[in-house]
Amino acid sequence: MSDGSIDLKADARARAYSIPLEDYHVADPALFQADAMWPYFERLRKEAPVHYSKGDEEVGPYWSVTRYNDIMTVDTTHQVFSSDAHLGGITIRNFDEDFVLPMFIAMDQPKHDIQRKTVSPIVSPANLGRLEGIIRERVCGILDALPINEPFDWVDKVSIELTTQMLATLFDFPWEERRKLTRWSDIATASPESGLIESEEARRAELLECLAYFTNLWNERVNLTEPGNDLISMLAHGEATRDMPPMEYLGNVILLIVGGNDTTRNSLTGGLYALSKNPQEEAKLRADPGLIPNMVSEIIRWQTPLAHMRRTALEDYELAGQTIKKGDKVVMWYVSGNRDDTVIENADQFIVDRPNARRHLSFGFGIHRCVGNRLAEMQLKIVWEEILKRFPKIEVLEEPKRVYSTFVKGYERMMVRIPERI
Ligand code: HEM
Repeated sequence: MSDGSIDLKADARARAYSIPLEDYHVADPALFQADAMWPYFERLRKEAPVHYSKGDEEVGPYWSVTRYNDIMTVDTTHQVFSSDAHLGGITIRNFDEDFVLPMFIAMDQPKHDIQRKTVSPIVSPANLGRLEGIIRERVCGILDALPINEPFDWVDKVSIELTTQMLATLFDFPWEERRKLTRWSDIATASPESGLIESEEARRAELLECLAYFTNLWNERVNLTEPGNDLISMLAHGEATRDMPPMEYLGNVILLIVGGNDTTRNSLTGGLYALSKNPQEEAKLRADPGLIPNMVSEIIRWQTPLAHMRRTALEDYELAGQTIKKGDKVVMWYVSGNRDDTVIENADQFIVDRPNARRHLSFGFGIHRCVGNRLAEMQLKIVWEEILKRFPKIEVLEEPKRVYSTFVKGYERMMVRIPERI
């Protein structure tokens, strides 16, 4: 639906309500980059909550599921709605048939469950307890090094740096080379038009470099009699994963990098942006820092760092009066379900003390519900605790630059200034 000559944001509402529904194609990255998709989803929720789109050459036809409860139905009916990479996987863009990366988020039962169990100890309460101190130390280090009274990019200096440090810790990855993780995460989800990569060949070449790098780390750790407490050691020693073919190792590594990277990164930026747009909420928060855990859930709902997950129907299925046919592509728009005000009151508003704030779709539901959800919440909680201790104000200087994607809903750049320290 995008047209370079039109200001997508300014015209969004008029356009959303004038385009015939049969011509709707909300999965347009330009709409997301312009933050102009909201009225389209609002209309779909009201008039066609389970909507069939012809799509475009890039993604083909797909169903959009836009209401909270219908999304919940799809996400929890995994016997019908498959995540299998060989059927296309979990994003609206199919895996390329000649470059399928098996990973447990893109697998069905029983293999999914076994592989998920292998890495789950990374987020056991005991490990989260161990990580809490490390994360706090790193957060303090990053915040203390920020320039005062000087513009800087929050995305780069705080959001990326912090999540990258966290990932390097989870993988026990060579510290000085940790930005490689950021790069691999970015290119793994980048579309060819995003400008991040020159061509599909270049993307694959970089991902194969990632595999080579991680293979070395695997080899260093696989023969240790005392396995480490990191994700690579867990995969190398896990009964269900130790004989994985190389592409499956790469797939699972990418899953863990992307899972822990883009999502938390964009919640860190999104939270600051949301507060800057809602000064009355910031005042509430500063008056009562005890609201931080609740606000963290509200940030994750409001931001919805992954805008959608996709499934493929294994059989015909009736949903909200529509018949989804076997083989159809079904997109659960979390970004829309999280704004469904028949379930979430005043859903468009950012409210730090919202009752029931954990009631959101951003972590998904069912067998694929986010493994890292408690870890993500903990990181965000610590960051906000430490920000409030240090900075009376962080000014957002201009509208952030958003990512060109219908999957990762996030920010490339957000310039800020911190006038002073407490
Ligand atoms: C799965 C969101 C942080 C690791 C998912 C899913 C979503 C999601 C939507 C798929 C759910 C579904 O299909 O039903 C988020 C958000 C985060 C976050 C919004 C931060 C705010 C993390 C972190 C990690 C992580 C920090 C790990 C270190 C994973 C993994 C899966 C997953 C491994 C696959 C689970 C499975 O297929 O069983 N996440 N995530 N995520 N996430 Fe997260």
